[in-house]
Amino acid sequence: MRDMPKVELHLHLEGAAPPAFVRGLAAEKKVDLSGIFDERGAYAYDGFVDFLRVYEAATSVIGSPEDYARLVRTVLEELDAQGVIYAETFVSPDFCGGGDLSAWRDYLAAMREAAEDVAAKGGPVLRGIVTPIRHFGPERAKAPALCAAETAGAWIVGLGLGGNEAVGEPKDYAWAFDCAREAGLRLTCHAGEWRGPDSVRGAVEDLGVERIGHGVRAIEDLALVDTLAERGIVLEVCPGSNIALGLYPNLRAHPIARLRDREVKVTVSTDDPPFFHTTMTQEYDRLADAFGWEAVDFAALNRVAAEAAFCDADTREKIL
Ligand code: ADE
Ligand code: ZN
Repeated sequence: MRDMPKVELHLHLEGAAPPAFVRGLAAEKKVDLSGIFDERGAYAYDGFVDFLRVYEAATSVIGSPEDYARLVRTVLEELDAQGVIYAETFVSPDFCGGGDLSAWRDYLAAMREAAEDVAAKGGPVLRGIVTPIRHFGPERAKAPALCAAETAGAWIVGLGLGGNEAVGEPKDYAWAFDCAREAGLRLTCHAGEWRGPDSVRGAVEDLGVERIGHGVRAIEDLALVDTLAERGIVLEVCPGSNIALGLYPNLRAHPIARLRDREVKVTVSTDDPPFFHTTMTQEYDRLADAFGWEAVDFAALNRVAAEAAFCDADTREKIL
């Protein structure tokens, strides 16, 4: 499994920061972050809302373009070790310069330069999806969307919406998605993770997204499942994340196989791997154990992911 070439579409950049990386920055900056780690040094949180708090605390020490460049290199090294050849990562101007466009350009240049250097040396290819944070509210989603629109191109390829799905409705964020669409960006939105089918429907109908982050709770409405299948909406499914955060007790209870059987385009990602003690290889191993999926199934899954990638056609050719 480790050596199988993989395409990962749903990976939060700060959420992929190893605890040791964050501890190193905290020590350099003399910030006490001991409260977010357990006694073995792993991230410690209690449920989703607390996870978001710990995530934001860890992110608070990743504070300059150089820090983000180091993070990109660290994350790409781990992706390479997992056989990932192409990944899309969520990056947020809220964390990179606070939504200020000129600061964002500096962060972006540093991240992109690091990523392109790794790719030039034969490492994984990375692209960015700008991600407003839903629980910061619709007004604050506008600045990141403008940052995304202004920097749309070969590296920033999409707009997403992460954070706490319980806050607001998808349509409240329509301004941000319209702005990104007009700039030629591709669209995805976290939905159907902490809320049910209505949230998924809202993301598809009111925001016009072509991919959904998670989307697994669409399974609670089979008419919606059939709509997703008919329209070819792609789900960025993160089984290990869903189990670690208590959405499902185990993989047998997880709907990924049922969604796939009903012809929904499913893909597999890790979301925030060190937070959920997972890797792409582990996700594949566990799916093979739980559902008997074989190499052909994973190859088909990766083909769906490559076809749904937001990159340009030349890059896609290389990962298909
Ligand atoms: N940000 C990082 N991980 C997330 C998740 N699983 N859901 C929503 N927002 C997130
Ligand atoms: Zn996510």
